[in-house]
Amino acid sequence: MKKLFSLLIIYSLSIPLTFAQQETSSFYATMALIDAEELQKEYPNEIEIIAKRRNEAAVFMSEEVSHKLHGRVLVHGPGFIYKSSETEAKQSLQKDDIKAVSNKMAFTITEDTMVNQAMNAIDTQNIENHITELENYGTRYHTSNSANQSAQDLKTKWETMASTYNRTDVSVRLVSHNSTPMKSVVMTIQGSEFPDEFVIVGGHLDSTSSQGNNDAPGADDDASGIATITEAARTLFEIGFQPKRTIEVMAYAAEEVGLRGSAEIAADYKTNNVNVIAVGQFDMTNYNGSANDVYFIDDNTDSTLNDFFKQLMDHYNTSGNHQLTYSTAVCNYGCSDHASWNSQGYPASFPFEANFSQYNPNIHTRNDTFSISGTAEHATKFAKLCSEFLIEIAKNDATLSTPEFEEEGYYFYVKNKILTYNISQTSMEVENINMYDINGRKVLQKKNIISSGNISLNSLSSGIYVITLSLKDQRQLSKKIILD
Ligand code: BES
Ligand code: ZN
Repeated sequence: MKKLFSLLIIYSLSIPLTFAQQETSSFYATMALIDAEELQKEYPNEIEIIAKRRNEAAVFMSEEVSHKLHGRVLVHGPGFIYKSSETEAKQSLQKDDIKAVSNKMAFTITEDTMVNQAMNAIDTQNIENHITELENYGTRYHTSNSANQSAQDLKTKWETMASTYNRTDVSVRLVSHNSTPMKSVVMTIQGSEFPDEFVIVGGHLDSTSSQGNNDAPGADDDASGIATITEAARTLFEIGFQPKRTIEVMAYAAEEVGLRGSAEIAADYKTNNVNVIAVGQFDMTNYNGSANDVYFIDDNTDSTLNDFFKQLMDHYNTSGNHQLTYSTAVCNYGCSDHASWNSQGYPASFPFEANFSQYNPNIHTRNDTFSISGTAEHATKFAKLCSEFLIEIAKNDATLSTPEFEEEGYYFYVKNKILTYNISQTSMEVENINMYDINGRKVLQKKNIISSGNISLNSLSSGIYVITLSLKDQRQLSKKIILD
């Protein structure tokens, strides 16, 4: 190993480092001790165990041997988590005692109307389209050009989706990383009431294949997860859901090579004290391999949040069109990006497609294509669960819209001191809009309004107001709003 080290140093000094060259070099990681010891026996020159603690090891290993580890997954278990330095690798061994500090916030189930609207709006065909689009890149291996092309295209797709629904509260960004040339994609839906509290759903955008990384369609692993969260987000837009808490939808880079993208994002959020209330991971959702629909991964997840997910399913998915069943399973390892959040102390859950050893056997091969499932029915169930989770944890801002208006083709809401109104039903004519303060004093009057528009409320001070739409048929529709 010493020799390997000095050769590597000479190699990296003589040639400018690029990511392609790093592929053939070595890096730090943590993994199960038993896997590290087995690999060392088999490839003594390719892996060095630099520290051990309980059943975990910190290692320095070649890129090649890491692929061997991946390829050997018979029953699920072996894997490794990339670490950027020797110190980081050693320190993270000490971290295994830190359990996710589940927040003391009580999760409640109150949004029946919104959740049912969302579940009804989920479109299986959209999920199928997203999966096949991603599959068609051929590979999304983290160092390939097509990986970053897929990230760029996903950003555009999410931006287009948000603007289709006129969502000015949504932004999408690419996140660059130190440990991979691939970028992650993050969509943010700004919370109206508690913008500093974050609810996150994610999946990984990259793919891998033990048969050669330029042939890695990654349809189930994990185009299915990206498709699931994309359709769940679209559904929220379709039903006009406006979160009180900030929602982020994340497509992580380079999960397959040791959770690299998510590890950097979670560490960055921790460093910046970002208050993440809950994280849901969607990695492999479209292979229906077991008796139940959803399996909650028990290890490296937060038991309170797992319980909440189960309560959601007990509430929303026990009968009718949206009936679903669940059970639990284990990974035995930090097998996906939820582990990155969990190890930073954030509560995470990981609802998975199948029971232990019954998951899609084609992952990490050139056969991980949509045709294996041939339908996106299974992923549809996860999109329902994802929307339940987002709606119930982020909560709708009731002051922004009320169901009776939506039914009648009206909506109006106030944001940043601008009143936006829209009347889509031509049979219901509005005569004027009035606004009253808490003492019943009229503070604003607009007559003969057209069917949609914006009214600035900048001149009004903070407080509670009532807005009234007077219809030509004498009816009045009133809504309370709070200006701050
Ligand atoms: N989607 C898999 C994780 C997975 C596979 C979970 C099968 C449950 C059953 C993920 O993309 C993956 O391959 N993870 C790696 C570990 C990672 C730390 C490199 C693995 O499991 O080998
Ligand atoms: Zn994988």
